[in-house]
Amino acid sequence: MPLKLVGALITVGLASLTAYAQDKAPKLGKNTVKEVVAAMTLEEKVLMVIGGGRDAAPSAFADGSMVGSTNFRIPGAAGVTNAIPRLGIPAIVLADGPAGVRMDVKRKNDEHRYFATAFPSGTTLASTWNPELVERVGRAFGNEVKEFGADIILAPGVNIHRNPLGGRNFEYYSEDPVLTGEIAGGIINGIQSNGVGTSIKHFVANNQESDRAGVDVHIDERTLREIYLKGFEIAIKRSSPWTVMSSYNLVNGTHTSERHDLLTTLLRNEWSFKGYVMTDWGGKAKNWTEQMKAGNDMIMPGNNKQIQRIISAVKNDSLEVKVLNTNVERILNIIVRTPSFANYKFSNAPDLKAHALVSREAASEGQVLLKNDAQTLPLSSKQGKVALFGNISYALIAGGMGSGDVNKAYTVSVAKGLTNAGFELDKELSGPYAQYNSNWRNWSKEFPVTDELINKKAAECAVAVLTIGRNSGETKDRDLDHDYYLKPSELSLIERTAEAFHRQHKKLIIVLNICAPIDTKGLKDKADAILLAWQPGMEGGDAIADVLSGKVNPSGKLPDTFAQNYNDLSSASSFPGTPVDEPTDVYYKEGIYVGYRYFDTFKKEPAYEFGYGLSYTTFGFGPIKVNSSTIKDKVTASLTVTNTGKVAGKEVVQLYISAPAKTMDKPMQELKAFAKTRLLEPGATQTITFDIPVSYLASFDNAQNAWVAEAGTYQLKAGSSSRQIKQTISVTLPKTVITQKVNSILHPQAPVNVIKP
Ligand code: BGC
Repeated sequence: MPLKLVGALITVGLASLTAYAQDKAPKLGKNTVKEVVAAMTLEEKVLMVIGGGRDAAPSAFADGSMVGSTNFRIPGAAGVTNAIPRLGIPAIVLADGPAGVRMDVKRKNDEHRYFATAFPSGTTLASTWNPELVERVGRAFGNEVKEFGADIILAPGVNIHRNPLGGRNFEYYSEDPVLTGEIAGGIINGIQSNGVGTSIKHFVANNQESDRAGVDVHIDERTLREIYLKGFEIAIKRSSPWTVMSSYNLVNGTHTSERHDLLTTLLRNEWSFKGYVMTDWGGKAKNWTEQMKAGNDMIMPGNNKQIQRIISAVKNDSLEVKVLNTNVERILNIIVRTPSFANYKFSNAPDLKAHALVSREAASEGQVLLKNDAQTLPLSSKQGKVALFGNISYALIAGGMGSGDVNKAYTVSVAKGLTNAGFELDKELSGPYAQYNSNWRNWSKEFPVTDELINKKAAECAVAVLTIGRNSGETKDRDLDHDYYLKPSELSLIERTAEAFHRQHKKLIIVLNICAPIDTKGLKDKADAILLAWQPGMEGGDAIADVLSGKVNPSGKLPDTFAQNYNDLSSASSFPGTPVDEPTDVYYKEGIYVGYRYFDTFKKEPAYEFGYGLSYTTFGFGPIKVNSSTIKDKVTASLTVTNTGKVAGKEVVQLYISAPAKTMDKPMQELKAFAKTRLLEPGATQTITFDIPVSYLASFDNAQNAWVAEAGTYQLKAGSSSRQIKQTISVTLPKTVITQKVNSILHPQAPVNVIKP
């Protein structure tokens, strides 16, 4: 036989052998995950745990399966995983972020423009105190995740608002872990009801942007468990997110992604988390082998060096293949649930119109009416012309900056929203403002309206509306000057407008389109009404007009305390750590006394307290009834809420508990549960019931490594804010109860000296 033919036959034979081997290989979905993992080469296993980031394309074993770039399927998505077609494993797509699907608007050789809904910021959603509504937002959001072709959305962000200067606070929910956990649970359930996944982030204590990747958070176990872990715990138990994203920072000396006690002992063993853990994108944690061992299953966005490092670690026995198998199994167990695995034919055409309506509803319900003297609001369009001041009135800040930003088709400004609602705006102001705003270099200062023009407008117009705006974003915390504090140009505009309009016996309404709390001294007493709109998403202007006009009765409540003075905040002296410019260490010296826990316990007067928010109607709370005044396993408390005013509205019933403090210090009170009424017509009543298991009464005792509910008298307090407690009842716990004994983990290297009341 000629040599050439032999060669050809061998080639054909080998090819069919390979094809045979390929067919024989187990396939994900047909075979069990364990069988698939058993059939994987070491290289394939490593490909699963390292994301398919831009330079993670190891040609040696690519075999055409590498996706290798986020241009795959959704340009602009944050990351992808590697495909292994031989085993039936598809690549999956991970996209940012908490306010909507983040992707590029333009695609190569494609005329179509790709826009997603920009939903209200996390803080706005938390201000609704309405997990059911937030779940509906999640359902719309998750539909976009699926229809744009993604599998997992890198959201929600649930870090605690430790300090108002935190650059990413807008993405997060609240200073309180119960509110955080319940709202996060709502959005996760909503998103995942579409058959796509979430990634609850950043686990844990990523409470600042100043050197977020290198800062070591020194924190005691009680503070971690009660404040910074609690929101994650509630959300994970309520809604089983598919994945968790570890944070960039260190906790007590070690990067969170390398902490076995955090990612395995606590997350999986104590909380029964069943999904997989991924790192945040890059960062300074470089001990990738340690990450695998810790239970940080996937390293994102992934690069070749990491692949080679993990392969060598297995080869030189510093990483047991058994550990890697577990990491891979967890990832595959999620991949089988994805749309990509089901080969879902996404449309790229979700119903954006319907989702805009949900976004608008959540934006209006997330607004907080801070002040409303002499029924300044609601406004009637029949009252006359509106003089609209402030740059931001004409250019809404829909959301924050960084990976949490969304490319949206449009943003409704306050000006547009008021016009849509039938208000007539004064043109002598709107023209020059539009011109001024068209040059972005002007944005740092308010348009200099002359005294003369203000006086003229005060004579001609019925009312003044003035918007103040603030934005922040990833990688940078906010500044005190010109950011937390009002700018001189803003102070001057507010002062002059208030004076001119009040002289004419006309009102000034201030709208706050802000990312996080600001200092309110320069506006609190000048305005007749103040509406806090936060960053309300792309429908913001319409949502603001809905509340200003009374179409929607405000029912939002503050998720954060507004301090009178920055230095009244318990973290003021330690944020963002030392050295201040590039902090390497931050000591959480305030311990559990964050936000209202500090203000209430240490008797500080806030500007606006946690849970505060006005309505256009009034509500009466009936007395609290309990099923028993002695607690065994749980107590059931109920009360009625009646709309005692003249317009329909919703109220939030906030249940605070004051606990005895014999063996441990306790905050004066803590939010333990809350419920929002339905829309109550005038005179209508609704009964609200809370089930309070004894575990809600427990505090974490470092010495015993246990959650302990001390014997004694507990006060159950129902309020419309943390300081407007309407009804109180006492219940007794006859004996001290250890509600849960946990592992001795996450210790600080040296004791953190936390403040005590
Ligand atoms: C952010 C994450 C984000 C990721 C991917 C990181 O810089 O901290 O929140 O999901 O980038 O864009």
